[in-house]
Amino acid sequence: NNKTFIFDLDGVIVDTAKYHFLAWQRLASQLGINFTPEHNEQLKGVSRVRSLDIILELGNITASQEDKNKWLIQKNTEYLSYIDELDESEILPGVSSVLNYLKEYQQNIVLGSASKNARPILEKTGIIHYFDVIVDGNDVTNAKPDPEVFLQGAKKMNASPTNCIVFEDSVAGIQAANIAQMTSIGIGEKEVLHEAKFIFPNFTFIDTTFLDNLLKK
Ligand code: G6P
Ligand code: MG
Repeated sequence: NNKTFIFDLDGVIVDTAKYHFLAWQRLASQLGINFTPEHNEQLKGVSRVRSLDIILELGNITASQEDKNKWLIQKNTEYLSYIDELDESEILPGVSSVLNYLKEYQQNIVLGSASKNARPILEKTGIIHYFDVIVDGNDVTNAKPDPEVFLQGAKKMNASPTNCIVFEDSVAGIQAANIAQMTSIGIGEKEVLHEAKFIFPNFTFIDTTFLDNLLKK
């Protein structure tokens, strides 16, 4: 009797949004675009390519594919310089205890992220060994709310979607989990993530009684 627990990365395991913000903001200001923290909120869970398009739309800029590719590389190079400094202190509160508890009870642990930088982030924070399977932005063609990333994870674990539980901080991610018929758990604000089956402000609110109930079902 075991379940498959699928974790989103950015905003669930690590707060990388602040590093994405710094890197996008440098590019935006270079292009004369005013990019604010509020704009950055709209980029959570959104792919790298789509994020650039949203920023260019903000500044009413049309660009050649060549320029876009150059800017994507520039942004990611700067982002990676922040990622390079990550350590385990950046793991969000309560995440490690939940991972340990699931491991202790021999549950499957999967990463389901849109990021192409997922592996270095898990390595730097020292938690890559918890994951039985990693599905990231290098593996999928359809972005959340398309359930592809989570369905790939389930398939690799030989698990039926109804036995999968997804932790997500983005609306699109919750929708993807629901479409896949998985149990969705929102990490964040109730008002934003109301489509989730369960919602917690962060992992410190997830106790062993709650996890035990998920294991039994
Ligand atoms: C996650 C983040 C997004 C980010 C995307 C791609 O979904 O929430 O903000 O744009 O991953 O990340 P990458 O590391 O490949 O640029
Ligand atoms: Mg996320």
